Amino acid sequence: MNAAATIAVVGGTGKLGAAIARRLAKAGRKVIIGSRSAESAQAAANELGHGLTGLANADAAQAGDIVIVTVPFAAQEATLAEIRPHVAGKIVVDTTVPLVPPKVMRVQLPSEGSAAQRAQSLLGDAVTLVSAFHNVAAHKLASDDDVACDVLVFGDDKEARAATVDLVNAAGLRGLHGGALANSAAAEALTSILIFINKTYQVDGAGIAITGKLIEPTNEGF
Ligand SMILES: NC(=O)c1ccc[n+]([C@@H]2O[C@H](COP(=O)([O-])OP(=O)(O)OC[C@H]3O[C@@H](n4cnc5c(N)ncnc54)[C@H](OP(=O)(O)O)[C@@H]3O)[C@@H](O)[C@H]2O)c1
Repeated sequence: MNAAATIAVVGGTGKLGAAIARRLAKAGRKVIIGSRSAESAQAAANELGHGLTGLANADAAQAGDIVIVTVPFAAQEATLAEIRPHVAGKIVVDTTVPLVPPKVMRVQLPSEGSAAQRAQSLLGDAVTLVSAFHNVAAHKLASDDDVACDVLVFGDDKEARAATVDLVNAAGLRGLHGGALANSAAAEALTSILIFINKTYQVDGAGIAITGKLIEPTNEGF
């Protein structure tokens, strides 16, 4: 995916979406914020600056080459139904962590295995589903500081995964291939553990880091 691709962030008025949108726009990417309300989307875009624009979710998804979805688990089904007519043939990057309040420190994965697999089944096979950003704290991403968190990227299509790793890197984080879409369950589950660690050890947004010297994968190796 080339750097001129348009990125739509559905639910981009929220904590995670706004932070991703701002970082990508600041890095020179064309980014459109989506919201259930076009006015809210434009207001958020104006506030964030960096040339961001805002549209209703469906219009943002229609305009995007890559569509990042940043809505709560409870809103995943309705939001994906809204954008489904506009994302066939595109990469959709789902960031959903399947938290079920009030027990957000307990792993509660959906029957599909993960929120990412649920997204794939809700959007259908015409969409190339990737998942990412599960373990990064939005309030840290909202600053310009270095964020001490690797971002694991999951998907069954290697090129789509690689395009998403590039996007994560463009946002100033280290994106790492995490393998098949089904592996997303591990990162989604880990978020409940990070929330537990935040509470137990009074951490302001714990993250994850993969240790060891990494050698960039060849085309065959990822
Ligand atoms: N926050 C984090 O630190 C973090 C970190 C990693 C992953 N995540 C995951 O990223 C996703 C977004 O998290 P967030 O904290 O950014 O969420 P959020 O701020 O609570 O909500 C994001 C946006 O979703 C839309 N939304 C909220 N409720 C909705 C509903 N009932 N129906 C349809 N749309 C609704 C809203 O946009 P409009 O009102 O403008 O439509 C809202 O601005 C979640 O799945 C979360 O688990 C979050």
